[in-house]
Amino acid sequence: MALITGGGTGIGAAIAGRLAAEGAAVALVGRRGHVVQQRAELLRAAGYEALAIRGDIAGDAASLVRQVIQQYGRLDILVNNAAIAAGVDLEEMTPELWRQVLAVNLDAVFALVQAARLHLAAVRGCLLHISSIGVSMGEFDDIAYVTSKAALEAFSRRLAIELAPHGIRSNVIRPGLVHTEVFDTMPPEFFDAQLPLIPIGRIGQPEDIAQAAAFLCSAEASFITGTVLTVDGGESAK
Ligand SMILES: NC(=O)c1ccc[n+]([C@@H]2O[C@H](COP(=O)([O-])OP(=O)(O)OC[C@H]3O[C@@H](n4cnc5c(N)ncnc54)[C@H](O)[C@@H]3O)[C@@H](O)[C@H]2O)c1
Repeated sequence: MALITGGGTGIGAAIAGRLAAEGAAVALVGRRGHVVQQRAELLRAAGYEALAIRGDIAGDAASLVRQVIQQYGRLDILVNNAAIAAGVDLEEMTPELWRQVLAVNLDAVFALVQAARLHLAAVRGCLLHISSIGVSMGEFDDIAYVTSKAALEAFSRRLAIELAPHGIRSNVIRPGLVHTEVFDTMPPEFFDAQLPLIPIGRIGQPEDIAQAAAFLCSAEASFITGTVLTVDGGESAK
């Protein structure tokens, strides 16, 4: 069983679809009930096992894990994908906005991992966290978002060390620009301006991240933990 936060849209939905296609039952967690419900229905219509859970990860994270355990009795994979951005720099940042971003992107991940730890250990499961190349690239002017992702990566590294004796792996994917619903309102000029920055010459698709996620969560990655896999078409290599 794989629990994917933010599994109703974008990268999370693609990861859920890919893990389901590889044989995992998936639980999609999201704030908007109808969104996760619709996505889970699509997966079930394709013959997969999928559960929709309406919930805010910054609320009672432990209850989300509990719902999965009640339904399936086990948890093999936790994908910490849900995140929010503030879209402002230091000058415009308020303590409230800062706290809001950190509450979702970091505190909730901590709470979910604590709630999932023993269940993952029982099946020698794994953790996957979705960061961003914004951690290492200067042009992202979203100070709380970038800080939260840097802390998420440090958290994952630490988890890899602490949880390895319990058979749990912890890894990070750092996506570059990926065309998800978030960018639906952007004009074509936005993408035209981004393309020259990406050596591979195209914008990432959610499936690009999902394929990497499936690998890191598979038995083929059994010797990989504490690492960060960048999936950005070469953008951060420049
Ligand atoms: N799209 C990109 O270009 C890109 C690049 C780098 C990193 N990322 C990362 O990939 C991940 C997915 O992003 P996306 O582009 O698919 O965006 P998205 O907005 O479609 O996905 C985020 C999902 O998380 C959910 N979510 C947010 N706060 C929540 C909360 N408190 N409780 C439960 N669910 C919550 C949202 O409802 C949404 O479904 C994020 O971690 C993002 O930082 C995306």
